[in-house]
Amino acid sequence: MHASPRIEELSAILEDPIKKAQLVLASHLHDASRGECRIDLGGGAWYLKLEHGDSRLELVIVDMIVVAASGYAGGERLTGSRVLDVLKTMKGPCIVELYRIDIDKLEYGGELREAASLKEPPYYWVGASLYNYKVHSVVAEGSFSYILKADGATGTVALKVLKRDSVGRKRIFKFIAENSVQAWLSMVDEDTVSKAASIKGARSLVEHILDASSNIVRVMEIHAPLTAYDEDTYRRMPPAAVLELMEGDASRLGPGEDLAAIAYNVLRALALAHMLGVGHFDMKPSNILYRITGSGRIYKLTDFSGYINTGSGMLVENVTPSYTDPLLIASRGRGVGLDSDVFNYMSLVYRLATGSPPYCVLAVNNVMLSKLTGSKPVLPKPPDYARSLYEKLLKASRSSGAASLLREVVTLYEECILDEVKGSGIQEVLGGEWGEAASRSLTLDKSLRFRDAVDLALKLKDWMDEFKRT
Ligand SMILES: Nc1ncnc2c1ncn2[C@@H]1O[C@H](COP(=O)(O)OP(=O)(O)O)[C@@H](O)[C@H]1O
Ligand SMILES: [Mg+2]
Repeated sequence: MHASPRIEELSAILEDPIKKAQLVLASHLHDASRGECRIDLGGGAWYLKLEHGDSRLELVIVDMIVVAASGYAGGERLTGSRVLDVLKTMKGPCIVELYRIDIDKLEYGGELREAASLKEPPYYWVGASLYNYKVHSVVAEGSFSYILKADGATGTVALKVLKRDSVGRKRIFKFIAENSVQAWLSMVDEDTVSKAASIKGARSLVEHILDASSNIVRVMEIHAPLTAYDEDTYRRMPPAAVLELMEGDASRLGPGEDLAAIAYNVLRALALAHMLGVGHFDMKPSNILYRITGSGRIYKLTDFSGYINTGSGMLVENVTPSYTDPLLIASRGRGVGLDSDVFNYMSLVYRLATGSPPYCVLAVNNVMLSKLTGSKPVLPKPPDYARSLYEKLLKASRSSGAASLLREVVTLYEECILDEVKGSGIQEVLGGEWGEAASRSLTLDKSLRFRDAVDLALKLKDWMDEFKRT
């Protein structure tokens, strides 16, 4: 046992953006300033056991990072976010055991041994070096990648590492492509932007778009050896990109929180991308990241993993049904245009304004996807105004194909989306031309839609000017 370390309460990690909290947690505790708990044991590896009432928790802490956690409360074995919940209730001096452990011979009770993923990705990189960056902690896990926090010569960064089961040749090429595009957009020079604006007939937007690259998460390096990845190769040099480190994503914001700032910043980022011929196609709250600055939060777009879908068709199974243009799904991505990306943007705005994505978009897409994949449609209970759409969808889902299903429900969809836009508060909160812009973005009638985000930004130009002034 070593000199008595400073241990305050532990619940700060509850505020950490690690959402999927499984048994294994990772969090940079000394960064956490708000919550009720802080662990600062200095360096090294520690075993810590806490008891409080009938709850018991065991933690393994390496360099102030909780790398494994497990426990019981009221006889129930804790998993996932329950560990966090119990941790939150543990206050005061409830430490029953504390000792240093040898990181190389990590041995701790049965439950924890199970939980110890130190030998598994992404935890085996914690404390190690990757591409000359020293990894601190695991920040998040996306569908295809791990996000690690790491230190390098230029400061603290985020490493986006492709997951072990995604290192096939195709995924690696895609990883290189999407990160190169994001690198370009995040650092594009003003000369290129102003030329593109002229060509697009959008010179009036220049003041909003010239520095819009600052609203795209920077990608500084891409490392992606095109090799066969056995265990050892993957551990030493996994496909990875170095990104600017952000503090969180928009998925936890309350309805309407910071709506205007997000709408403005994402719109100008998207208009910039569209001006340069790139669509995003996967805008959703978890792909909008923020950092806190002196003047509030700055929001940035990331994860251009959908962009490659333009033109060539796509695997519609991979789309996010709550935000995707139904026309894109019905056509399986063939001939998809940037108007679909405007649709995507507006469903995101709707979601941020109301707390849920538009019901009728989700319902139509889920039924179409179930037809394409042969699975059972998942249809949440409809709000009153969407009842007839819902019933028609259920009926139609038994007979027709995706495209014909869409034709059958289009009138009901249009009525439903108008109601949703009216009830969303978008017009009330954002003002200007937003109500009309939202209905024209979310319609299935191509002739009413905005061609791209530049077109939409021109429509909302007065609002953008106003936003920038305030
Ligand atoms: N640069 C970053 N800084 C901090 N957190 C990030 C960063 N990039 C991603 N994240 C977090 O990780 C999650 C997944 O990252 P993302 O790039 O969307 O990967 P995926 O393509 O696997 O979805 C994001 O939703 C966000 O919460
Ligand atoms: Mg993502």
